Amino acid sequence: MMKLANLPKPFFVLAPMDDVTDTVFRQIIADCAAPDLFFTEFVNVDGLQSPGREKLLKKLQFNDIERPIIAQLWGKQPENFYKTAKEIVAMGFDGVDLNMGCPVKAVVKNGACAALINNRELTGEIIAAVREGVGEHLHVSVKTRVGLKVVDMSWIEYLLKQKLNMLTVHGRTAAQMSKVPANWDLIGQARQLRDELSPTTAIVGNGDVMSRTQGLELAKKHKLDGIMIGRGIFNDPFVFAEQSSWDNYTRQHRIDLFAKHVKLFAKTWQPGERAIHTLNKFCKIYINGFDGAKELREKLMQASSSDELLVLLNQTSKE
Ligand SMILES: Cc1cc2nc3c(=O)[nH]c(=O)nc-3n(C[C@H](O)[C@H](O)[C@H](O)COP(=O)(O)O)c2cc1C
Repeated sequence: MMKLANLPKPFFVLAPMDDVTDTVFRQIIADCAAPDLFFTEFVNVDGLQSPGREKLLKKLQFNDIERPIIAQLWGKQPENFYKTAKEIVAMGFDGVDLNMGCPVKAVVKNGACAALINNRELTGEIIAAVREGVGEHLHVSVKTRVGLKVVDMSWIEYLLKQKLNMLTVHGRTAAQMSKVPANWDLIGQARQLRDELSPTTAIVGNGDVMSRTQGLELAKKHKLDGIMIGRGIFNDPFVFAEQSSWDNYTRQHRIDLFAKHVKLFAKTWQPGERAIHTLNKFCKIYINGFDGAKELREKLMQASSSDELLVLLNQTSKE
């Protein structure tokens, strides 16, 4: 079993981001500058235990270079969490995380993710079901926010009393979406509560970290075990490096990195499995920071297949 205690202090985590941190992007990041821990995108257990299963299973694909890796699950039915947790063990993951923070309206309305903040009974059942499913094999963690509509530290206390192996706290309420700066003092409070209630739970802080240096400062200030970075990766694919080399990446390096991503995308996702436009986000990451980048992006984003994209990237390299 992966031991969080063996990770560096503080450890750095790549945040789960749906339609972004798939196995393809995780492999690219692992090659650029790997975090100490990866998460999958969130995967719905109720869907996984339904006829729609095959499509969702692909979201749980990973490669050894992405280790240690935690599968992130969400859903409503404890029975489906139990069945999926058993499968997660068999797939060889290093841990299982439960999403209790996603604020997307349709999801919350349905009673899942951030809605669990105000449904302790179901939360308890879900954690118990997952624990039963993974047995002694995997550690169990939760990623959440500091409240649903208003800040509610009793939620964090409740989770700490569940003696999780790790708790990631995003310093905003669900109602705040991403509209206000993350409140790191509340993350610091969660860390203090941890000392009282569950000393063995690792606390990971999340929200608006744009560099490793900033992450180290926040970890030191609030005495955190780990720092999770999500959107910071959009500005710098080497954000987890001690010394990022992104500023020294030439136009050609950046084009080559995008081509590497597109080739891996084409190898991983069969036509129709993942829309080609999901590559546009990556186009913005890589095709950036050099003269003519904007015009090139506009051209690349018109492509209707990965083959077409690769031809365009190849032509561009020769210009
Ligand atoms: C496009 C996108 C997709 C996301 N998908 C997930 C997800 O699947 N699971 C999850 O727990 N959080 C998800 N999040 C939230 C991030 O993991 C993270 O908590 C949030 O972006 C704040 O961290 P940051 O400021 O470092 O980006 C997503 C965020 C974005 C921007």
